[in-house]
Amino acid sequence: MNTAADNQPSVPDEPAASRPSRRQVLSTAGAAGLLATVPVLRGTERAAASTLAASDGTPEQIHLTFGPNPATSMTVSWASAGQAPGARVLLTGPHLSDVKVPAVQRTYTDGLNGETVWTYHTELTQLAPDAEYSYVVTADNDASATPFRATFRTAPKGRAPFRFTSFGDLATPNTAWVLSYGQSAYAVEAVESFQPLFHLLNGDLCYANLNPTAQPEVWRDFGNNNQTSAASRPWMPCPGNHEVEFYNGSQGFASYLARYTLPENRAPGFGGRWYSFRIGSVLFVSLDADDVVYQDAAAFVAGPAALVPAAGTGHPAIEPGTSFYIRGYSGGAQTAWLERTLAAGRRDETVDWIIVQMHQCAASSSSTGNGSDLGIRQEWLPLFDRYQVDLVLCGHDHDYERSFPVRGADTHAGREVATGAVVNTLRPRPVTSTDSGVFDTSHGTVHLILGCGGTDAPLDEYGTDTADGRPFPGGSPPRTPSRQAKVFTRADRPVPSSTPGVFTRAAADAVEDAIWSARRDTTTGYGIAVFDVDPGSGSDGQPSIKVTHYHAVGADPVNPATGTKGAPTPDYTEFETFTVVRPVPGGSGALRP
Ligand SMILES: [Fe+2]
Repeated sequence: MNTAADNQPSVPDEPAASRPSRRQVLSTAGAAGLLATVPVLRGTERAAASTLAASDGTPEQIHLTFGPNPATSMTVSWASAGQAPGARVLLTGPHLSDVKVPAVQRTYTDGLNGETVWTYHTELTQLAPDAEYSYVVTADNDASATPFRATFRTAPKGRAPFRFTSFGDLATPNTAWVLSYGQSAYAVEAVESFQPLFHLLNGDLCYANLNPTAQPEVWRDFGNNNQTSAASRPWMPCPGNHEVEFYNGSQGFASYLARYTLPENRAPGFGGRWYSFRIGSVLFVSLDADDVVYQDAAAFVAGPAALVPAAGTGHPAIEPGTSFYIRGYSGGAQTAWLERTLAAGRRDETVDWIIVQMHQCAASSSSTGNGSDLGIRQEWLPLFDRYQVDLVLCGHDHDYERSFPVRGADTHAGREVATGAVVNTLRPRPVTSTDSGVFDTSHGTVHLILGCGGTDAPLDEYGTDTADGRPFPGGSPPRTPSRQAKVFTRADRPVPSSTPGVFTRAAADAVEDAIWSARRDTTTGYGIAVFDVDPGSGSDGQPSIKVTHYHAVGADPVNPATGTKGAPTPDYTEFETFTVVRPVPGGSGALRP
């Protein structure tokens, strides 16, 4: 997402964690003991700590991801303060006891503060489907009294029911960091409370790039917070705009890619950015929308001061007005891969459902957040139509919104904000405007905005077209005034602001009546979506996915509807539930009776 915080002047010239930013000083008191604040060390203290860290291979930030086949493979990943010789997993499960599997080491040196990050990855294969394993993570210089131990379960094989969950925009509970908030800890606990097979984390993981002098420390707090759940079940991420970091690789993903081992996409030079995996009757497709969106919302130096990397990095200062804009980076490789993947999925008669996750949105009507992006509508929505993608799960706007099933586009339904001129926003066309609670997604794709993880910037305020006051066409019940969405139809590259030396990036340049918007949660920006996949085990044999959105009412720092001050809460209650159905592949084309 992109908030006022993005436009704050950057901390100019201090290396990592040696000086808290103004924001850090102001907000540390709100940490509320949910997670220990990373200590700010000085001079000799830091040198001593650094020596200790260099020899400390104690595993932390432990998390799981699915391997190539979720039924038979799992990857255990972690980090340690220093290099960890002998890093390994000891695996126990059906017919196995403490089998030693060595880890592969991946490191990177943060391009802004110069810190080296040590990560370790153990790919476990030839596992039994739907089986429980326990594992120990350790290293020769593991200082913990008892090595870390946890359990996981592999995915079922064949057409079996399972549950997964999703949200994005999580941040960390350490309020020293920009956009972090205590709800982040409760959000992780919420995942655990639903005991899903896995969690889809749909981008903007921790906002490290908004804390440019301390990116590795933000990632560390994120990883240690997530470990509560991610050590016990896979968390499958996609990159968002806040995973893009200056001087950390050609797209800025060095930190993200070092920490996650994700299914192979066979796209040379683009591993880890996008991927797919299959569980039972569902094909999951994870995309990097940074590649196609017009919006410029990644790393940015607003000014007036330049961002000066630590001297040891050898990197030059980044001048005010510089943004790291990576639209088009794959040169079409991702879209070509997507088409091949979707086509193969729909050719496969054992695939019922295709579910896409990506970070940015094709159908969001948040008024205080980012809104929708024409880039996704141009590049990917025609493919979602052609291959009947059932659900698209996004984040980016920190709220909950659900679309009607959409297919095709209206070509001249937008208006340019600046001039009022008609502009083509390729507005998604709903196939129904009756909010029945049951939708056949073979007729249209349902988009969900789930940027409701844990940041301190909930964006549960939505657009209305108060000027035209037209009722929602055919709506049931009719709604006046109509819903309105902002749409980026061109790049909002940095421009000088009214403050000398300070740059800004404009909001979306167009608006449209959001006739595709079915439900918006105005009570809170926090929640979690729970998906129960039924492959057709009931007496009618009808495949379905029941989707339930739970929300954390009262968690907003300030409720936009009432002005009431809130606080992080562990209480997630049901907001709405709906069901998607579709005909069985190879059948008559009709839904089961
Ligand atoms: Fe975002």
